[in-house]
Amino acid sequence: MKRVSLTQYLVEQQREHGRIPAQLRLLIEVVARACKHIAIAVNKGALGDVLGSAGSENVQGEIQKKLDVISNEVLIEANEWGGHLAAMASEEMDSIHVVPNRYPQGEYLLLFDPLDGSSNIDVNVSIGTIFSVLRKVGHTRGVSEEDFLQPGKHQAAAGYCVYGPQTTLVLTLGDGVALFTLDRETGSWVLTQSGLQIPEDTREFSINMSNQRHWAAPVRRYIDECLDGRTGPRGKDFNMRWVGSMVSDVHRILTRGGIFLYPWDSREPDKPGKLRLMYEANPMAFIVEQAGGLASTGRERIMDVVPGKLHERVAVALGSRNEVLRIDAYHAEAG
Ligand code: AHG
Ligand code: MN
Ligand code: MN
Repeated sequence: MKRVSLTQYLVEQQREHGRIPAQLRLLIEVVARACKHIAIAVNKGALGDVLGSAGSENVQGEIQKKLDVISNEVLIEANEWGGHLAAMASEEMDSIHVVPNRYPQGEYLLLFDPLDGSSNIDVNVSIGTIFSVLRKVGHTRGVSEEDFLQPGKHQAAAGYCVYGPQTTLVLTLGDGVALFTLDRETGSWVLTQSGLQIPEDTREFSINMSNQRHWAAPVRRYIDECLDGRTGPRGKDFNMRWVGSMVSDVHRILTRGGIFLYPWDSREPDKPGKLRLMYEANPMAFIVEQAGGLASTGRERIMDVVPGKLHERVAVALGSRNEVLRIDAYHAEAG
């Protein structure tokens, strides 16, 4: 079988469909190359001295792991000089990183969660990188945080990498979802699946059950009904899977369907949710919708949420279409 590399895939998208401008093509290639570097670091584990805590805290008050810091640096360094970006924003940085003056400024904005699933690093469970691409709109000189505060529906591209038994890259440019697998011998990303589709129905849910007592009524109702199984209102048994790395939990859903939830909970009532809108929820929502699924806060399409600030958080329910619609309906009924 003839192998199609990421480069060939991008060139063909550009040539045949005029879909991606040269700067966006370069951006995707650079991010994919950075992810290879991160994959190598992840793979070395204790041998590369990459496990454990970095001894610092990020802007959200979370302890940073060494790999959070390393991955952030790899992505920044890789993306600074190409002339494709105006600025970057990351879960691990307080404020935006503007491309230094010595390099040309491009028209795109890159946002990332450099290392998703930090609690799984030291236990050798799959982790990943999530990214989102926006265009800098308006012709003002310079770039500020304001330029980033666009709803997810304006994303030009989004993707994630899973560092697991296989190293895979999932990408959308707004016309379906493609999956690439890293061939470690040749060092190239090879297209292994395109046109990914999430089944509309499922018997599998993914949620951190230890927070059950803190959830709002509509989420409790939804999960209770799943747990009631065949003799309950749903009339079927449900299975549960929770990796604790959003990349892996979402990737399972992309592969065989399912529903992933990280809802609002009453421990911190003023926070809309735990996950970050710009680095986690929006890119995953774009990918899931492009694969025929839905992504909602319970009350609103995630990609319609207008961010008020860079590190904004949001409640998340995404995956198989009919399950997300049901969760939305339960929220609507609860008023
Ligand atoms: P990160 O490692 O980037 O901080 O993200 C972790 C996220 C997400 O991957 C996962 O779904 C969730 O946090 C798990 O959190 P809890 O273990 O607190 O439920
Ligand atoms: Mn994360
Ligand atoms: Mn992270």
